[in-house]
This record gives sequence, C-alpha cells and structure tokens, in this order.
Amino acid sequence: MASLLITHIGTLVGLHPEGLLMLRGTEMAQLPTLENAWLLCEDGLIADFGTMDALPVSLPNDLETLHAEGGYVLPSWCDSHSHIVFAAPREEEFAMKIAGKTYEEIAAAGGGILNSAAKMQLATEDAIFEAAALRLNDMIRQGTAALEIKSGYGLTVASELKMLRVIRRLKESFPIPIKASFLAAHAFPTAYKNDHQGYISLIIDQMLPQIAAEGLADYMDVFCEQGFFSVEETDQLLTAAAKYGLQPKIHANQLSVSGGVQIGLKHQAISVDHLEATDEAVIAALANGNTIATLLPSCSFYLGIPFANARALIQANVPVALASDYNPGSTPSGNMNFVLSLGCIKLKMMPEEAVNACTLNGAAAMELSDVTGSVTRGKKANLMITRAMTSLAFLPYSFGQSQIKTIIINGKIQ
Ligand code: NIG
Ligand code: FE
Repeated sequence: MASLLITHIGTLVGLHPEGLLMLRGTEMAQLPTLENAWLLCEDGLIADFGTMDALPVSLPNDLETLHAEGGYVLPSWCDSHSHIVFAAPREEEFAMKIAGKTYEEIAAAGGGILNSAAKMQLATEDAIFEAAALRLNDMIRQGTAALEIKSGYGLTVASELKMLRVIRRLKESFPIPIKASFLAAHAFPTAYKNDHQGYISLIIDQMLPQIAAEGLADYMDVFCEQGFFSVEETDQLLTAAAKYGLQPKIHANQLSVSGGVQIGLKHQAISVDHLEATDEAVIAALANGNTIATLLPSCSFYLGIPFANARALIQANVPVALASDYNPGSTPSGNMNFVLSLGCIKLKMMPEEAVNACTLNGAAAMELSDVTGSVTRGKKANLMITRAMTSLAFLPYSFGQSQIKTIIINGKIQ
C-alpha cells in the first residue's frame, strides 16, 4: 500500500496521547496541536508526524507527497448517531412543521416514524442500500469517517432484518468503520397500539435471537419517551438485549424528562443520546460517569425544540459527544460541520470542546476511540485538510460553508 506524506500543514490538530479514550470536564477544552507540521501515513495508519524543520530522513520508496498549503489537518468526524437507512425523505411533514404542527402532532397524524416504516416495508433491499450509500457518500465528502447507523424504520421482523442487512452491506462496501444499533423499539406499529407487550414479545422472542445469530447488531437502542416506550418497557427490552451482549445506546429525554437516562445507566449504556429535556437529576445521574452524553443540536435546530445543556454536562464531568442524528423526520442533514457550528453557537461549547466532541468522544461513543478520533500514531489515517484558516475557530464560525479541501481515508486521498 502506498504511503502518503502530508507537508506544510499550518496546524495539525487533535494530537491526543495513545491510550486516551475519552475526554470529560475541563479536559474537553484540551486539543493539542503542532504548528508547521508534516504527517506520514503508512499502511492506512498514522505512522509519524513532526515539524517541517525536521522532516523524516528515511522515507518509504512508494511515497506520495501532498502539500497542505498551510491548511489545518484534523481527525475526521466520528458521527455516533444516525438513521441514514430510510426509504424516502418526508418533505410533506416539513410543510406541516412550517405551518405550525409539532413533531408529536405529526406523528399522531400518521406521519413520523410509522410513515417511514410503511415505505421501508415496500422497498427492496437493493433500493434501500443504494439510497443509504448516496447519503453516506455525501457524509464522507463532508468529513465523516466513522459512523453509527440505526435500524428502527422496519418495525416488522422482515423489515428490521432488511435494514440491518443493508447496514451490514454498508459496512462491507465502505472504507470507514460503521456500527449498527438495533432500534425496533422506535415506535409501536399501529397493529400493536393497544398491545405493547405483543410488540415487545416480537422484538424479544423473534427479532433479537435472529439478529444475534446473524451478528447484525452492535448495540441496542430504544426510543424511551412519552407516547413511545415507557421506562418499564425500556427496562424489559434492555434486559433482554443484555442476554445477547448488546449494550444500550439509547434515545433519552428528547421531548420530555422521560427517565431514559437513568434506565440507560442501569444497563451500562455506552451513550445516552439527545437530552434536550434535562433536569438536575439527569445531570446528577450522569456526573463523573463513563456513559457518554451524545448531543444532537441539528435535531433541536430543525424541530425548534430546546438545545441540550452541554455546559452543565461538561461542568458535571460528563463526557460529551456531538452527532448528526441524520434521519428523515427530525434531522434531514448529516453534515457534521454544521453540527460543529451549532455545538459552538447554540450549545455554547468552545471550538476545541466541540471538535473533541465530534472526534474523540464521538469515536468513544462507538467504542472506536482506540482506532480513530485523534491524530495519534497507530490510529487510522482518517483526516481532513482545510483551506488555510486564521484560527481553528474559523471552522465553526463560518457556519454552513465548508472549509474542507481534501479528505483522506485509510491514508488515501479521496
Ligand atoms: O432521533 N426520536 C426518535 N428518532 C429520530 C427521529 C425519527 C423520525 O422522526 O423518523 C430522532 O430524532
Ligand atoms: Fe436519533
């Protein structure tokens, strides 16, 4: 495999030491950098880096050189929460939303997740794969190079398996690490509206055993929310998933203080995601723990719901990650550059904190921070090169505009 030497890097960003797997509290503001640098990629990994006054003396024969023209080099975005496998967008709900309907009202009117599930059930696996691959290509061009993807628009045995098989195909077809979360507990299908235990049994007795047998999921997710899955139902589902070794990454406190955080913690959740509705008890429950609070500011932006209280979480020494939540209902965008900007503008995170939340802590929320998420020797050479910028803050400051010039994945220019 060819080697790549990047020279004339204005600032090399995110030089966290080997073995540092997540950042919390005041550590989140620490983003070590090196000015006027070079970086060498070998065998798809970051082999070495240093300053331009001391270029490496012995270089591999098959070396390709790339002049960074004074741009920043950052670790690629690690997006730990997405729903990019869906059959069709939902612009009709966009219009309803503009006219004043809330997310809950749209769902109650037959829109929302059930609308996506109806379309998923009719679509072929190939069509779903092609549509998701297009979205993933767009995200990669915008700097994402590690991604978690959820099922949850199937809601039948066949359709949930179809979604998870599509995610497996994406894992096999793309050069970036992908993790799959099983989210059949996303909404109750209409037929089970008055028979919650019937649907929960379907998940526990039929879906989980097959998914585990085929190794189709890495994590268990539940939408723990009023009108969706209660705390008791979530507890039941997470208990069943644990028997198959599936740890939770759950949707908690999106629309209300639902108890989702506490039940996630009871089951050693890798992450509790959303947290737009947060009270002191939620912050206290997460304080000083290892469960990552994954905040999704694009969802707040699009739905017009409150933004999560990132400052209180950081203050309470909670590791905070930022992710896109890309899905057709609450966040029709997978652009992590915009997530970064919202992290700063709306969540009041400092640029360094937001970059760490979109990289190392995002990787940690997928248990990938030993292989990606920082510029560390031995990690994947997944990097972005920006235009020359006056400071790191220019990246989130220039919201809605891309500063990325070049994407490198596994040491290869894309
Ligand atoms: O994370 N809240 C649950 N799931 C998605 C939205 C799903 C949808 O509306 O299609 C979310 O926001
Ligand atoms: Fe989500």
